[in-house]
Amino acid sequence: MEMEVEDDMNHRVMFSDADADQVGQEAYGLSWPGKTRAADQAGEPATGSLAPRVDKSLDFQGARHVLIEGDNLAVLRHLRAGYGGRVKMIYIDPPYNTGGAFQYPDNFRDSAAEHRLRAGDGADPEGRYHARWLSMMYPRLLLARQLLREDGVLFVSIDDHEVHGLRMMLDEIFGSRNFFAMFPWQSRTSRQNDTDLCVQHEYVLGYARRRRDGPRRLKRDNEARWRQAPGFAAFPEPVDSGRYSNPDNDPRGPWKADPFDAPNVRPKLTYAIRNPTTGEEFWPPPGRCWRTGEARFAALRDDGRILFGRSGRARPQLKVFLNEKQAFGEVAATWLDGATYGTASAGTRELQALFDGESPFQYPKPTALLRFLLRLATGPDDLVLDFFAGSGSTGHAVMAQNQADGGRRRCLLVQLPEPTGDPRWPTLVDVTAERLRRAAGALGSDEGFRFWRHTREPPDAADPWSWLAPLGLPLDARLQPVTVNGALAHRVRHGEQTWLLYAGAELDEAVLNGLLSAGADVLVLHRALLDRRPLAAWAAAGPTVKIVE
Ligand SMILES: C[S@@+](CC[C@H](N)C(=O)[O-])C[C@H]1O[C@@H](n2cnc3c(N)ncnc32)[C@H](O)[C@@H]1O
Repeated sequence: MEMEVEDDMNHRVMFSDADADQVGQEAYGLSWPGKTRAADQAGEPATGSLAPRVDKSLDFQGARHVLIEGDNLAVLRHLRAGYGGRVKMIYIDPPYNTGGAFQYPDNFRDSAAEHRLRAGDGADPEGRYHARWLSMMYPRLLLARQLLREDGVLFVSIDDHEVHGLRMMLDEIFGSRNFFAMFPWQSRTSRQNDTDLCVQHEYVLGYARRRRDGPRRLKRDNEARWRQAPGFAAFPEPVDSGRYSNPDNDPRGPWKADPFDAPNVRPKLTYAIRNPTTGEEFWPPPGRCWRTGEARFAALRDDGRILFGRSGRARPQLKVFLNEKQAFGEVAATWLDGATYGTASAGTRELQALFDGESPFQYPKPTALLRFLLRLATGPDDLVLDFFAGSGSTGHAVMAQNQADGGRRRCLLVQLPEPTGDPRWPTLVDVTAERLRRAAGALGSDEGFRFWRHTREPPDAADPWSWLAPLGLPLDARLQPVTVNGALAHRVRHGEQTWLLYAGAELDEAVLNGLLSAGADVLVLHRALLDRRPLAAWAAAGPTVKIVE
C-alpha cells in the first residue's frame, strides 16, 4: 500500500509498505570496517607524558608557540585537559593516501588479502583503498572537535583521493549544517603531461564547531551585534586598495565605480533615471532593479556619488569610497587561485629561501594560503593548532600574520619524528623546529617556541614542567621559581587562580607548612613524594591539593 505523508518541511512524501519494511534496517552515513575500533581510540586515556626539551626550543621561558614531537593521536589525548574548548582554529594537512611515499608514509591501502581478513569475505573490495585511512583520521578528528571553541573552525587540506569520504566523516562529526566551504585551491598552474589529465587543484574543507545562525555579514548597522553573536562567521577580507583610484581628485579620497543595479526586482526600485548630459533615460537591465528607491537616488546624486561612466554619457554607476569600505572589509570568496594564494611550488620556494636554496620538506603549503585561513577565522589573540605540522608552514604563517596585523596569535604544532637521513635535521620534527627558527629570524620576529616530546614515561616527579599537561595547564604557562621555607617551588597563574607546584625531593613538616600557607589557591605535589611519607592532614582552610600521578 502507498500513502502520502507530510514531512516537517511541509513536503509531500510518498511512503510505501516496502519502505516500512526497511525502517530501522537502513541508516544514512559512512561506514567502513574498523570504524568502531577507531571511535574507541578517541576515548582512550592519555598515556606517557609530554616532557620539555629546553635545548630544542627557541626562548623556552618566554615562548608563545608550542611544538610537540609525537604521534598526534597520543598528543591530542594529552591536549584534551588543557585545551578542550579553547582552540579557535585547527588547520591540518594530513597524508592524502595517494599510495606513494614522501618523507612520510602516504599509503593506507590494504592488499586484497588483508582487506578480506579485516572485513570478511563478502566485503566491498573498494574498502581496501580507503578503510585504513578513514580509521587513521576518525579518532583524530573526533578529538579535534573537542578542542575547538564554540566559535572555532577546522580546515583540512585534501585532494581527490579521499575528499569524498572525508566530507562524509566531517558531516557526521560536525553536522552538515556546520560545513561552510570546500575551497578549491589552485595547487599548480603548470601542466604536467605524464597522464591523460593534469589535476591542478586541491581542496580546503571548512567546518565550524557551531556555524552562526544569525547575521553572517559584517555591516555598519550590525557591527556591535555581529562581534558578539555566538557561533562562527568568517571575518571579511581587507579591501584590495589597488582597485580604487582618484582620477577626479575627490576630497573623499580614492573610489571605484560599481554598477547601480542590483538583483531582486521590486516595483519601488524600478524607475527611469535620466542622464543629465544626454537626457537619455535608463531603466534597470532585464531581471534587475536599481540599488535604492528614487529619493535615496536623488540624495546620492546630490552628494556627488552618482556617475554616468567615464564619458558622462553612459548608464548610472555608484561611487564607492575606499575609506568607507575599509571599516567593514570585503566578503571573502572561496576561489583560491594560485597567483594570489600561492601554489605548491610557491610553498617550496618559500622553504628554499629559508634553507639556502634547498628544500628539506616536499610539498609544503604556501604561507599565503594559510594566512588567508588565519584572517578568515582568527582574531589577534586566538589559538591555532596544526597536528600534521610537516615543515611548520602554519607556524610560519602565524608569525607572519601576527607581524602584518600586530596580532598575538599562538600556535600549537604536532609532528612525528620521521627520519630524514640528513644529519643536520635528523627527523621531520627537527625540520619543523629549524623552519620556525629560521622563519622567526627572517621575519625579525621575537616569537619563540617551546619544544615538547611525547614519551612513554609518566610525568617526572622532579620536573614540574612535565606536570603541565596532566594538570590541564597550557604548555606555554610561565612557571615562576619561588622559595618556600628554604625549598624551591614554582608559582603559576591559571585564570584567576595561583597554583604552586612543588617538585622537591623532601617534604618535611616545615616545607609542607610553608607550601600550605604560601597563599596559593592550589598546591600540586607528585604522588612519588607522598609515597615516601605518610599523607599529612592538610590544613582545612589551606589550598586545594592536587596530586600528579
Ligand atoms: C602533508 S604533510 C603536512 C605538510 C605541512 N602542511 C607543510 O606545509 O609543511 C603531513 C605531515 O604529517 C605528518 N604525520 C603523519 N602522520 C602523523 C601522525 N600520526 N602524527 C603526527 N604527524 C604525522 C607527516 O610526517 C607529515 O610531515
